[in-house]
Amino acid sequence: MSIRRATINDLPEIDSIEQRVFDDAWPREEIGQVLSDAGGIRTWVLEREHTVIGYLMVHEGADTVHILNFAIDIPWQHQGFGKQLLTSVLRKFPETSKVELEVKRSNWPAIQLYLNAGFIPQEVRPRYYPDGEDALIFRKCIHHQQETTSELV
Ligand SMILES: CC(C)(COP(=O)(O)OP(=O)(O)OC[C@H]1O[C@@H](n2cnc3c(N)ncnc32)[C@H](O)[C@@H]1OP(=O)(O)O)[C@@H](O)C(=O)NCCC(=O)NCCS
Repeated sequence: MSIRRATINDLPEIDSIEQRVFDDAWPREEIGQVLSDAGGIRTWVLEREHTVIGYLMVHEGADTVHILNFAIDIPWQHQGFGKQLLTSVLRKFPETSKVELEVKRSNWPAIQLYLNAGFIPQEVRPRYYPDGEDALIFRKCIHHQQETTSELV
């Protein structure tokens, strides 16, 4: 297993995972723009035996790292790969960074992962997603483990 920066050559594999795992998948063109480094979004992939099985996209602002997209392919889910990818990527950012992400209120596997990784639910954005579902906003400081709460979940 290895984790490396993605390139435009990873577009077919990332796009096919994206279409498999999300009902509201990003369009292939948008993923292509991200992989071409448009807008300063960086992507890492997790590979197993030369096959991409997951990816994580982040935008680094002045003091906040925003996780924009994150998935592990269906056959490889719930085997620890998402946790490894998230932990490895966050290690690459300065200790002082804050990390922020949005997650659908119903996405219990992802919410569990973020809580276990020390993220704290901070606010609800009602009807944030195109399908009308609320987003939960999670934040954490990279190297400061904090107590978790499921108050908003
Ligand atoms: C969310 C996702 C990235 C997690 O990756 P993963 O490799 O499946 O997660 P891991 O195996 O590393 O699990 C880490 C923790 O997440 C939680 N988790 C993962 N899958 C779970 C499931 N099906 N049910 C409940 N909890 C789950 C658990 O807390 C787990 O820790 P544990 O095994 O010690 O209990 C992956 O399931 C996925 O791609 N889902 C579809 C896309 C998505 O929802 N992306 C996130 C959008 S915000």
